[in-house]
Parts: sequence; structure tokens; C-alpha cells
Amino acid sequence: MAAIQGNEPILKLSNIGKSFANKEVLRNIDLQVNPGEFIAIVGKSGCGKSTLLRIIAGLEEISSGSVIVHGEELNGRNKMAKIMFQDGRLLPWKKVYDNVGLGLKSDSQKQQISKILEQVGLADRSKAWPVELSGGQKQRVALARALIHEPQLLLLDEPLGALDALTRIEMHELIENLWREKQLTAILVTHDVEEAVALANRVILIEEGEIVMDLPIRLPYPRQRENPIYSKLVSQILNRIMKKRGNLVSELSLTK
Ligand SMILES: Nc1ncnc2c1ncn2[C@@H]1O[C@H](COP(=O)(O)OP(=O)(O)OP(=O)(O)O)[C@@H](O)[C@H]1O
Ligand SMILES: [Mg+2]
Repeated sequence: MAAIQGNEPILKLSNIGKSFANKEVLRNIDLQVNPGEFIAIVGKSGCGKSTLLRIIAGLEEISSGSVIVHGEELNGRNKMAKIMFQDGRLLPWKKVYDNVGLGLKSDSQKQQISKILEQVGLADRSKAWPVELSGGQKQRVALARALIHEPQLLLLDEPLGALDALTRIEMHELIENLWREKQLTAILVTHDVEEAVALANRVILIEEGEIVMDLPIRLPYPRQRENPIYSKLVSQILNRIMKKRGNLVSELSLTK
């Protein structure tokens, strides 16, 4: 793999198109991801967010264009990325510790399991079964399972969508802290515009398979929700969506 040069993009999507059978789902997608960025992808249900994330993870073939990872064309799985899904996908017959350790081969990685469980606030639940955990705890396990592989790029597909508002805010803090401490690059797919502005330093809006907005968020972390600029950015994104589709506010709700 080519060496990383300074601020070179870690990922470059050029003119990506994706169709399922005859249905075009993504078109003309150009996206450059720089190291350390936290990108949020928002957009209406069915606009192509998860498909784009799966393409970045190398889990979905593209119909046209190219995906360049560290200067080389992606072929198969993207080894620098780990993806975390909305439902967590824990194995119910494995305890928390073993869910996090799934697929680990080296002893040095296995030795990290307790540490990573501590980092996500679950040090005392390592012997619990998934069924004994709350929704938020399950997502913490899923996050630990992604992070144990020390991915350079963390891909999050609506990981907090099923959680209540307070647990979501706690998870925002956790994700933000881990992103900073581990110097990750993160791409978060979310329906929640407020969540996007709380976490990301760049918000991308997809409409009908195309990127129609790429907005930098330059507010300092941790984000203060009472900051008027914060609310202004949330409104700006919602207004951009409403211009084309007046009925979208309920789908991209502030509090979900
Ligand atoms: N494997 C597949 N085969 C056929 N069509 C698919 C497949 N995966 C996705 N699609 C279609 O592609 C479009 C985009 O789907 P995608 O899951 O990327 O949307 P999304 O923006 O993530 O939506 P949501 O917010 O509801 O999760 C949808 O019309 C969907 O039906
Ligand atoms: Mg999706």
C-alpha cells in the first residue's frame, strides 16, 4: 500500500455511479475524504446513503467511476475501514467480551478487549449476554467491536437511530471523544440533522442519488447546542432540503 503523504486524501471517490438492475441509485458522486475529518451524510430515506457507505467499505460494487484508497484503486474490502450498523449485529450466543473479540487472531489484539470495553464504558459488562443489555449498551459493544480493529476510517450507518434522545446525546459525547483520542476519520450516516451538526465538521446532503450540498461546520468541540450559529446551521441544512421538498422536515427531524 502506498505511503500516506502529508494531507493527501485517504479516500477519493470519482464520478461514482451505482445501479441495481435498471434502477440508478447513485450518480456523479465525487467525494474526497481527508485524514481526521468527521463527515455526516444526511438525506431522505432511500436517497442512497447506505449504498454509498457500503461502497466506501468495499461491500458493494460500483457501476461506474473509481474508489481510490490511499492512492490505490479499491478492489474488494476496504481494509482501513470498519462499519457499524444501526442494529449493532451482536451475536446473541456470545457474551459481550466474545462479541468484541470476534475474528481477532493476534493475542495483542485480544489483550485490548478489556481496554476498549472500558473506553466505551462497559468494563463491568464483559460477561453479560447481549440480551441483558440496553439498546445504548448494545451499540457501545458494536462500537467497541469496530474500534478493536483500530480502523483508520470508522463508518457509522445510523448507529443511534433506535436509541432514545438522552442515550443518543451520551453516545454523541462518546463517539466525539473516541474520534478525537484515536485520531479517526469518521463518516456518519444519519437522518438527524441536529446530530450531524453536533458531530461533524462537514455535512453532505444527498438528494436522489446526488451530492447537492457539502457544508463545512467550523464550530469548536464539544458543540454547544444553545449556540445560535449551531441552530442557524441546522436551519440552513433543513432549508436546503425544504427548497426542493417542502415535506421533508418531519423526516429529517431535529429530535427524531
Ligand atoms: N441490494 C439492493 N438491491 C436492489 N435495490 C437496492 C439494494 N440496496 C438498496 N437498494 C435501493 O437503492 C436505493 C437506496 O438505498 P439505500 O439503502 O442506500 O438508501 P438510504 O438513503 O440508506 O435509505 P434509509 O435512510 O432508509 O436507510 C433504494 O431505492 C433501495 O431500494
Ligand atoms: Mg440506510
